[in-house]
Amino acid sequence: MSDLRVGVVGVGVMGADHAARLAQRVVGAALVAVSDPDLARASAVAATFPGVRVSPSPLELIADDDVDAVLIASPGEAHEEQVLACLSYGKYVLCEKPLTLSTSSARRLVAAERAVGRRLLQVGFMRRYDPSYTRLQSGLSSIGRLLVLHNVHRNMSAPASFRSEMIVRDSLVHEVDVARWLFADEIATVSVLTPLPSRLAPAGVSDPLVAVFRMAGGGIATTEVFINSQVGYEVRCEAVGETGSLFVDAPRPLPADFRARFASAYDLEVQAWVSSCVDGRVAGPGVWDGFAATAASEAGVRSLQNGGEPVAVVTS
Ligand SMILES: NC(=O)c1ccc[n+]([C@@H]2O[C@H](COP(=O)([O-])OP(=O)(O)OC[C@H]3O[C@@H](n4cnc5c(N)ncnc54)[C@H](O)[C@@H]3O)[C@@H](O)[C@H]2O)c1
Repeated sequence: MSDLRVGVVGVGVMGADHAARLAQRVVGAALVAVSDPDLARASAVAATFPGVRVSPSPLELIADDDVDAVLIASPGEAHEEQVLACLSYGKYVLCEKPLTLSTSSARRLVAAERAVGRRLLQVGFMRRYDPSYTRLQSGLSSIGRLLVLHNVHRNMSAPASFRSEMIVRDSLVHEVDVARWLFADEIATVSVLTPLPSRLAPAGVSDPLVAVFRMAGGGIATTEVFINSQVGYEVRCEAVGETGSLFVDAPRPLPADFRARFASAYDLEVQAWVSSCVDGRVAGPGVWDGFAATAASEAGVRSLQNGGEPVAVVTS
């Protein structure tokens, strides 16, 4: 069987990383094209791998008959147009998180995939593929009913352009998905509290943040997100059940960033996506997961703006 011909849209930090795994590690896929408004960056990434061409624009890459499937790693504000284009050509698409930046936009994608009539979209919630998280998830049945999740999500430092709202939409969104996945439940309300800010955070950025999700079934997930922790990339999770608890611990020494910590999760995610496209059965986190996460992030941003009051997540 011939390889799935994949194009990557947006080859910044994440897209270049995905391009390398598609070209070098994923079985059953061939990286055939990349596109980025920064043509120099696209050319540099393409030149790293034999036979990869640079498409003049993301939409031309998506339309290209020689591209079977598209991995979108452009900034969140570009996702809607690019995902819609993939769906209109009936192409499989793995879209990096966040699916989109607003509930109304995500809702249009839910409707568009429904109109196609079959699953074409997977959202890049790679924690669901990380071996330590999948071990925790498969152990949940051994600790009785899941009651509480405690999450920690820290980065060494972030650019000054990374504002408080982005901490919610771009960082906390991973724990949004983790909570929905581990509880197998929707988030009912989100509160985002602002502790004393670190004096090492850029002016005006509320860092760290502490988020509280109340799940529809009554469970609670807490998350500390601290993007200028000065220490390293530290992601931890404890699931507390009626008869015990399970941990995802951070490796020591702490990795410098997410690419090192989640390298195997990204590999497993992209491999699973490619294999499912080849089989014609996309099975990973889908458009509803992307929509629900965007709705929870939107509630989180509103809570951040109104002093931490719980805000209902609107998914109806
Ligand atoms: N799953 C994860 O753990 C994870 C980690 C980091 C980033 N991400 C996501 O990946 C995406 C990219 O993030 P990044 O960190 O690589 O950002 P980045 O800024 O490093 O790269 C973005 C790239 O997209 C290009 N670009 C800008 N507008 C574009 C458009 N309209 N079409 C195509 N390309 C465009 C930019 O020139 C740049 O090269 C975001 O959605 C981000 O949230 C996911």
